[in-house]
Amino acid sequence: MALRYLTAGESHGECLTAIIEGMPAGIAIGEELIAVDLGRRQSGAGSGERMAIESDHARITAGVMEGVTTGAPISLLIENSDHINWKGRAVKPYTTPRPGHADLAAAVKYGYSDIRPSLERASARETAARVAVGAICRALLREFGMTVDGYVAAIGGIAGNTELYDHDERVRRARLSRVQCPDERASEKIERAIEVAHREGETLGGILEITAQGVPVGLGSHVEPSRRLDVRLAGAMLGINAIKGVEIGDAFANAARCGSRAQDQIALDGEQLVRRSNRCGGIEGGISNGGTIWMRLAMKPIPTTRKGQDTVDLASGRQCMATYERSDICPVPRAVVVCEAASCLVIADALLEKLGGDSLNEMLPRFKTLRQSTLRDVKMTDSDHIYWP
Ligand SMILES: Cc1cc2nc3c(=O)[nH]c(=O)nc-3n(C[C@H](O)[C@H](O)[C@H](O)COP(=O)(O)O)c2cc1C
Repeated sequence: MALRYLTAGESHGECLTAIIEGMPAGIAIGEELIAVDLGRRQSGAGSGERMAIESDHARITAGVMEGVTTGAPISLLIENSDHINWKGRAVKPYTTPRPGHADLAAAVKYGYSDIRPSLERASARETAARVAVGAICRALLREFGMTVDGYVAAIGGIAGNTELYDHDERVRRARLSRVQCPDERASEKIERAIEVAHREGETLGGILEITAQGVPVGLGSHVEPSRRLDVRLAGAMLGINAIKGVEIGDAFANAARCGSRAQDQIALDGEQLVRRSNRCGGIEGGISNGGTIWMRLAMKPIPTTRKGQDTVDLASGRQCMATYERSDICPVPRAVVVCEAASCLVIADALLEKLGGDSLNEMLPRFKTLRQSTLRDVKMTDSDHIYWP
């Protein structure tokens, strides 16, 4: 692992903190750049009242001088505006675990007599810190011409037609939609479905698609399972609250195809080795193959519902309804930027691992060489035989 990061902070605590270590020197990073992604995490339909209270801003407190990374660990601080409403307040013990949350399992695991500590840390408030760290990784990837985007493909069973437009147009249209869906008609239906869910005290899940373009051949490795790029991406996606399924490329459609129709045939375009399709989602044998990396993610309907759910009060031992705490209705649109951020982190880590180097200037020529590899570079001769001793 070339890049490490850690976040800390509770949902209603004073602030969120993040430290990222391993970023090379020479990357231009400003707080305004991070603010773009933090703003995306806060906007859109389906958000709860918390988003109206918070106006997230990440303060860079170390590792950046004169707007440029120094190579030292970068630390970030995001204040919780809502903290003031909780500070010094006697909060009633929380003893009614919500199904689908960490509440019950964490209470058993940590021996809590009040579930609040797990509620505070398991909350997706933490994803603000991840988005901030991801924005720094995005800035690194941009230096190498790589972009990571995402959009919503479906919410509450209402699917948009994501094939109506090419990739860039899809992303552009998604950004104009309050539910991050490129299909305008589906967006309207989804907005209505979110309103209905809100009225009924329900929540909605959905499907997101994430793409990474411009990724060179050779990130990740087949030699050891933990180094596989698909393993790392899938792990990062499942590390996001409420993301429960990851599909890379045509994984599920491929399962129904015969073998010769499930791969991406190799061809020559001049000296360049090219593929005739991208069913594998840009990763073969755990290594990026130069194609667009694309994933589909399943996000569950979030567990805090105004409509009650059965639980047991751990204080009285009686059957009761789970307590409702102010909550989102459908954070799927907001999760797009979270999934992008987590993808940026993985790809930036794999890039640094591949290229090495302490500064951007050291990395750029190495990247150029990697990009320019053609058939000539990999051409084998008859003498290239391996003999087992
Ligand atoms: C951006 C975002 C916002 C979320 N907001 C809420 C919320 O308001 N209420 C809630 O119950 N869950 C919310 N979740 C999901 C929970 O944090 C998550 O379901 C819970 O921690 C249990 O973890 P698990 O679903 O990953 O098993 C949100 C998730 C994301 C990604």
